[in-house]
Amino acid sequence: MGSSRIQNWKNSVIYLTLLLTTIHLIAQTHFSHNLLFWNIESVRVKKIPNLPLRFRSDGTFKILQVADMHYGSGTITHCRDVLASQFEFCSDHNTTRFLKRVIHAENPDFIAFTGDNIFGSSTPDAAESLFKAFGPAMESGLPWAAILGNHDHESSMNREELMSFISLMDYSVSQINPSTNDLTSATKGGIMTKIDGFGNYNLQVHGAPGSMLANSSVLNLFFLDSGAKTVFQGIRTYDWIKDSQLRWLLQVSQELQEQKQDPLHPTDATPLNKPPALAFFHIPIPETPQLFYKEIVGQFQEGVACSRVNSGVLETLVSIRDVKAVFFGHDHKNDFCGNLGGIWFCYGGGFGYHGYGKAGWPRRARIIQAELQKGKNSWMGVERIKTWKRLDDEKMSKIDEQILWDQQLV
Ligand SMILES: *[C@@H]1O[C@H](CO)[C@@H](O)[C@H](O)[C@H]1NC(C)=O
Ligand SMILES: *[C@@H]1O[C@H](CO)[C@@H](O)[C@H](O)[C@H]1NC(C)=O
Repeated sequence: MGSSRIQNWKNSVIYLTLLLTTIHLIAQTHFSHNLLFWNIESVRVKKIPNLPLRFRSDGTFKILQVADMHYGSGTITHCRDVLASQFEFCSDHNTTRFLKRVIHAENPDFIAFTGDNIFGSSTPDAAESLFKAFGPAMESGLPWAAILGNHDHESSMNREELMSFISLMDYSVSQINPSTNDLTSATKGGIMTKIDGFGNYNLQVHGAPGSMLANSSVLNLFFLDSGAKTVFQGIRTYDWIKDSQLRWLLQVSQELQEQKQDPLHPTDATPLNKPPALAFFHIPIPETPQLFYKEIVGQFQEGVACSRVNSGVLETLVSIRDVKAVFFGHDHKNDFCGNLGGIWFCYGGGFGYHGYGKAGWPRRARIIQAELQKGKNSWMGVERIKTWKRLDDEKMSKIDEQILWDQQLV
């Protein structure tokens, strides 16, 4: 008994010494890292795009939506669902090639990646896959933003790490979540200190340069994390947008709509309508299947893989009134737009070659263009929002152009 106690005590001392030595070593290494950090040559600073986001002087703002790149490890990752004749020379490289082609063809002002950017289980290194997947966006120098789908986190990073990483990439304007300050002010004395998920944020697009609305947001973009998969009442289901996220959306939307446009020029700068908004998330809302029986633009070719839980996203969007259209992905063989409660819900259509799809049905991207109203002397607020798609075929065919919102028609 006595000797074993002494033995334990001795072990404790050895253990403690080891622990202290380790801490000391870590501290030292960290310290030398800090020293290295001051070596300016080795510091890698994120490249930041021209901000704020703003309309062009021709009165347009064009968004490229990229849904479901499903990027794996690069050229060693094979394509899925392409024609047998295309299979041999097809890899993630083709996804990169498509992204470069569509950026070149459309020359957008902003790129929105709506999740399943990488296919986690096809890469051992999430960071490397993200670099390759977003490579053409970073090279383009265009501002871009991303949110997560249900596959991004299936590799070496969890959802929080992914969003932090993505927010630090060149020209990314992605954010992890609103700051605690913003959450507190958003709830005005409420008790909200945390929002569910990672990748809930708002971006504002200012009016045309030199116009009366040059320093005001005329178009608001909302990004929401629709989660991955979960078990609800014993049943496996896709995740849903939670109450905390909807409350945040409601408050931010209210604050943005109440914002004075420009107190110095009340007549020119006060548009009849509040600035419209667009929302982006990955998983379709549970009402989407209803669109099977309605008039749509595009293809409805597979069942909607949405959550069994209806958290009231549609009701919230209808009640806040500024969101005119929502863009999601997730179901790669659906690429349609349909209207629910006065709001358009549009699929991007599968973009990436490692994602499932339909052989012979080209991979595709969605374009969204907002256009300003021409005032007497300068551009005013948003007048119209249009959309169309671009196919990764030989001619980069442009299809299914439609108007989603027109201020004159409401
Ligand atoms: C993939 O890219 C290669 C060239 O890099 C091209 O020859 C091939 O046709 C592409 N495949 C598809 C399905 O687009
Ligand atoms: C917008 O801000 C810039 C820079 O502060 C200023 O020069 C310009 O007059 C402002 N425009 C309007 C319409 O307020």
